[in-house]
Amino acid sequence: ASRTFFVGGNYKMNGTLESTKKLLQLLKDAQLDSNTEVVVAPPAIHLLLAQEQLAGSPVKVSAQNAYHKDAGAFTGEISVTQLKDASIPWVILGHSERRTLFGESDELVAEKTKAALAQGISVIACVGETLEQREANESINVVVRQLDAIKKQVDDWSKIVVAYEPVWAIGTGKVATTEQAQEVHAAIRKWAVEKLGQSAGEGLRVIYGGSVAAKNCKELAAQPDISGFLVGGASLKPEFVDICNARL
Ligand code: G3H
Repeated sequence: ASRTFFVGGNYKMNGTLESTKKLLQLLKDAQLDSNTEVVVAPPAIHLLLAQEQLAGSPVKVSAQNAYHKDAGAFTGEISVTQLKDASIPWVILGHSERRTLFGESDELVAEKTKAALAQGISVIACVGETLEQREANESINVVVRQLDAIKKQVDDWSKIVVAYEPVWAIGTGKVATTEQAQEVHAAIRKWAVEKLGQSAGEGLRVIYGGSVAAKNCKELAAQPDISGFLVGGASLKPEFVDICNARL
């Protein structure tokens, strides 16, 4: 199946108005592979600035999180409806930092995914195992459990990109080996073909996240079931452009 390569930059809770502007300008001015879809997720307070600055650019904007209720007494949250109102086309959901630091359950992530899709917002749905789970040989079970929870609430996966991010590889400089990554990506592909059907399953993009850098992205990108990356730390540096161009 031909799957458009996808690179997301997750800025997490980093940057100032000034530094975000600079980063975005760099992307706007860069020669990016026109066959790769590029999406950047600045902190919520920089979303509108990013939207404005990237107007007319093929680079799209994503939120890092959103709440599934439309509106109400949910102090500190931003709703998927508000993202839609601001024409933000993407949202990252279920990032491991949301799951572990902010207690998001598989069910909540599924609920949010359903709500975002209902507003026409595309979702980068994150899954991945902890080091303890990997050492217990549970990686694939954990990822399947996380995906099953979403599948329970969502039938149409055409606007979902799955990000496989082994928690032990995030921000640690410890990238999964290409074999480790490809193994889990292949398991996700198998799950997708079984649960979503042949064509949707083959078409689903599964991207890798966890210490992706300019120096390791080409080898990862060459794996048959790796359709792109979700980049944290390196998305804050000029090398993000090289990662977007991993396929060139
Ligand atoms: O969302 C991005 C991932 O958590 C990866 O972060 O590239 O800093 O390891 P990292």
